[in-house]
Amino acid sequence: MIIKTTNDIPGSEITDPLIFRQRRIILKAMASMMLTGGSLRASWGDTPQAIWNNLPKSPLSGDGLDLTPAGHVKNYNNYYELAFNKEDPSGLAQNLRIDPWSVEIGGEVEKPGIYHLEDILRQSALQEYVYRFRCVEAWSMVVPWIGFALGDLLQSVQPLSTAKFVKFTALYQPDTMPKQRSNTMLEWPYVEGLRIDEAMHPLTILAVGMYGDHLPKQNGAPLRLVVPWKYGFKSIKAIVKIELLKRPPISSWTKAAPNEYGFYANVNPAVPHPRWSQNSERPLGSGFFTPRRQTELFNGYGEQVAYMYRDMDLRHFF
Ligand code: MTE
Repeated sequence: MIIKTTNDIPGSEITDPLIFRQRRIILKAMASMMLTGGSLRASWGDTPQAIWNNLPKSPLSGDGLDLTPAGHVKNYNNYYELAFNKEDPSGLAQNLRIDPWSVEIGGEVEKPGIYHLEDILRQSALQEYVYRFRCVEAWSMVVPWIGFALGDLLQSVQPLSTAKFVKFTALYQPDTMPKQRSNTMLEWPYVEGLRIDEAMHPLTILAVGMYGDHLPKQNGAPLRLVVPWKYGFKSIKAIVKIELLKRPPISSWTKAAPNEYGFYANVNPAVPHPRWSQNSERPLGSGFFTPRRQTELFNGYGEQVAYMYRDMDLRHFF
């Protein structure tokens, strides 16, 4: 499989196409404004394919990571609102209604409001971020996400000094999400949380695409969190609400099984899950005889993030 990356584009050639594409988006939005008689609103689904191609690669992307073939990432999913079986979300997710999309941002901020995704994207610097991703179930992948720093969005709504945590809430759409009607294992909607410094960390992104294209619905379209040093369940899909809070939110998984899924959930090979070891992982798409990969503390991002936890005992850390 040939996956086009931005590696082979010289830096000098990146800026111009970007500006060109941003102009195109603005022009398109203006055209739609004229058509709809005044309101500046292009549809999310109309976002031109061209914006996904040739985006600059974030310097935070790891060097020399082998991308997981896209087919594995798009067809092996955890999306418990849809199914327990990992092969099912790619089909079932096609029923989700995700356009138009807006995100309610509130709590301890100066500028609470309902923000349309197009408006968020217009003010965001989209980049490609190649990150390792480690699921708590001990499979892993390397994904070229397209997204922007969550911290930039949070800064734009001006957090108050009282904002210490961030709570994320996912889509509640029981008519298209079968398990929201029948599965009581998790409380719906799916909820996750971060500490404010984790949310502001430059590695933490909101993804809107991957592999040079829109984010597939089964991978969390149109907007999902990606926190590469934490177990995958923190990376909540289909975000509709972001609240800045004084106190830590309780995530869906922590509520369901507090001894198995804690608030921090930083990848740590030395702390086993109560039911299995976290020492090694199976890269998605690896052959039957391929040796498992040794799991790294903070999923290999320790140099960038360990300082945030220096006062904590990593053994009681889950
Ligand atoms: N977000 C929502 N809304 N619902 C979910 O069930 N599963 C989580 C996370 N985000 C989940 C979610 C888990 S357990 C993992 S491992 C990742 O999404 C999987 O992401 P992927 O399907 O894109 O690989």
